Amino acid sequence: MFDVVTFGSATRDIFVRSKDFKIIESLDFVTGKGLAINAGSKVYVDELIFASGGGGTNTAATFTSQGLKVAYVGLVGNDSSGKEVVAELKKLGVIYDFIKDTDGADTPVSIILSAPKRERSILVYEGASHLLTKEDILWEKIKSAKWFYISGLSGESSKVFPEIINFAKPQRKTSGFLRGKENNIKLAVNPGHDQLTKDLNLLKSLLNKIDILIVNQEEASIITGIDYQNEEELFKKLDELVDGIVVMSKGPDGVAVSDGKVIYRAGIPNSGYVDRTGSGDAFGSGFVSAIMQGKSIELAIQLGTANATSVVQKIGAKNGILKKGEWGEWERVGVTKTPI
Ligand SMILES: Nc1ncnc2c1ncn2[C@@H]1O[C@H](COP(=O)(O)OP(=O)(O)OP(=O)(O)O)[C@@H](O)[C@H]1O
Ligand SMILES: [Mg+2]
Repeated sequence: MFDVVTFGSATRDIFVRSKDFKIIESLDFVTGKGLAINAGSKVYVDELIFASGGGGTNTAATFTSQGLKVAYVGLVGNDSSGKEVVAELKKLGVIYDFIKDTDGADTPVSIILSAPKRERSILVYEGASHLLTKEDILWEKIKSAKWFYISGLSGESSKVFPEIINFAKPQRKTSGFLRGKENNIKLAVNPGHDQLTKDLNLLKSLLNKIDILIVNQEEASIITGIDYQNEEELFKKLDELVDGIVVMSKGPDGVAVSDGKVIYRAGIPNSGYVDRTGSGDAFGSGFVSAIMQGKSIELAIQLGTANATSVVQKIGAKNGILKKGEWGEWERVGVTKTPI
């Protein structure tokens, strides 16, 4: 029996760091600034680092490091990168038997263009992760899992998102009998771009089945339509929509968590960072690892924060993940509690 099954992407990440990447302010870009290089010339790269990433496998890496029995479900390309994904998970102790490969697309690649200490942009090739269908999932094999952790599912795979949720928490009644009543799998969900844009209404209709919703401030604002700075109203609305715990991360400003009765808040240690890729996955999976093991929300916040802090000190979303019992170099963060 699995403690947790993770869903989401498995990617090859290529970090390209160069002092010659320039940040220019321009209204031609939605963010008001662009990452630019000289056209028509060579641009020298200071560092080129190959790593693995993707929400599905990053979170699986934390769960196995925390001593939990975890399987990853996803699709990779029928290529050497796909084989590397499988080999790495095998080495980490993640159950990889439910990974399928496809000839339909290559294994996803993210190219992270980083102007050190300034800004980064990510070129995303979604590839095979995009193409997961419900036929690719060995439902019978995963139905005894205690938890599912779902990260963003995009493209064709976004159609599987409601299927996974409804499999974990079947409708109470369909045509007069209980369907799949044996399944009562707990759900932790960190929705991705497609869930928050084209499928937003669908996501909202499923929130009452989610035990732990993990979003950042901007994502919380998209779901509720409330300004991201208005934390009180955001939680009021999210607590109405979600029966369980709502986690709202705020990057370097830390995190706020509500269980509907109390709002817990914490900052981050005074650690600095090298590359923030993977912080969201490290926090979410660290937090859920603690809750799965019956720990308090305070301790879950401390473990999520310690895991994220350790990951942002290194390049690569799986580098720095804490092992069970480890807390990393920094003090545990203080957590305040405000009754609602
Ligand atoms: N520079 C940092 N140093 C230490 N911890 C950090 C840092 N940035 C983020 N964290 C921790 O990681 C958590 C999640 O980060 P963040 O809010 O950036 O998630 P996100 O926006 O979902 O990120 P991602 O782009 O990875 O999806 C934060 O709440 C914080 O606890
Ligand atoms: Mg995120």
